[in-house]
Amino acid sequence: MYKLLIRPIFFLFDPEKIHHFTFSLVKFLSKIPGVPSIFRGMYQVNDKKLERNLFGLTFKNPVGLAAGFDKNAVLYNELADFGFGFVEIGTVTPKGQVGNPKKRLFRLKDDKGIINRMGFNNEGLEAAIEQLKKNKGKIIIGGNIGKNTNTAPENYTEDYVTCFKGLHPYVDYFVLNVSCPNVSSHAKLEDADYLKELITEVQKLNNAEAQQKPILLKIAPDLNNQQLDEIIELVAETKIDGVIASNTSVNRDGLKASKERLEEIGNGGLSGQPIKERSTKVIQYLADNSNKAFPIIGVGGIHSEKDALEKLKAGADLVQVYTGFIYEGPSLVKRINKAILAES
Ligand SMILES: Cc1cc2nc3c(=O)[nH]c(=O)nc-3n(C[C@H](O)[C@H](O)[C@H](O)COP(=O)(O)O)c2cc1C
Repeated sequence: MYKLLIRPIFFLFDPEKIHHFTFSLVKFLSKIPGVPSIFRGMYQVNDKKLERNLFGLTFKNPVGLAAGFDKNAVLYNELADFGFGFVEIGTVTPKGQVGNPKKRLFRLKDDKGIINRMGFNNEGLEAAIEQLKKNKGKIIIGGNIGKNTNTAPENYTEDYVTCFKGLHPYVDYFVLNVSCPNVSSHAKLEDADYLKELITEVQKLNNAEAQQKPILLKIAPDLNNQQLDEIIELVAETKIDGVIASNTSVNRDGLKASKERLEEIGNGGLSGQPIKERSTKVIQYLADNSNKAFPIIGVGGIHSEKDALEKLKAGADLVQVYTGFIYEGPSLVKRINKAILAES
């Protein structure tokens, strides 16, 4: 029904407008008595065999919603009814910011991809906290944190620290997003020495808390093998809890979209099917070359159960979807969970 009826209509409209419309629609529908249980009946697969225990958390199933969809933590309670095992909110920055000028979100229909240069548009930390106070406890929540666009390089760490402190009581795990291609001074966030400093600082705060929360690092799919070796070393040195591979890509190789169309769109991070293989290779490389020393959340171009199983076989412990959820609809989550069950 989604692909035949809903998607063709949604795809007639501007992607960002449809995103907001969908949020309002799901919010509205979820308030009608009986509707959430219909959603649960349609999309949830409840089976003990799907449970995963990772970094001290029990995930009901290994399929999550990736960061960037529920940036302001306004829909996670409702999204829990759609069969996810976890939802990652954010990227949250200390202060609210509008992000890049519109238009900044583009569909590449023939490639089943998206290019976005949203630029961390979000309502900011305080607004996210207000929303997270409404948590009904239905699902594991990840807090994906970043820095404000206009923060000076010497204050990057402070931004992450502010978000970490603020969200600590409200999320189950943290993600340090250091791999968004749409933020300025990206280079510093790729520097292994700086990352070590950042992780150590956040871990210090974590250790001072009564209850420690798992901290993960989200990396780009465009890192070369030497950079991936540095990530493996970094995880070993800092003992950070895991890695999310991967964010969106700046690479445009092999796309069906014309050169003119890509030029017209301009900069941004590519997601969806075109980045599937590269993300899987990153996961495989990290798993093989670390001897599977740390948990990996696999994300990038999962549009089918087969794509998800590939990521798990490559070494991912959990998976996340974003672009596939837009192209394939909510039944994708159920199909993946069923396929994982069939394999178990
Ligand atoms: C419109 C859009 C916005 C995104 N915003 C964020 C973000 O704020 N923080 C983040 O860590 N990742 C963000 N991502 C990246 C996704 O979380 C994911 O890592 C990436 O899209 C690859 O997965 P996919 O191919 O399933 O979409 C965004 C992706 C899209 C398409």
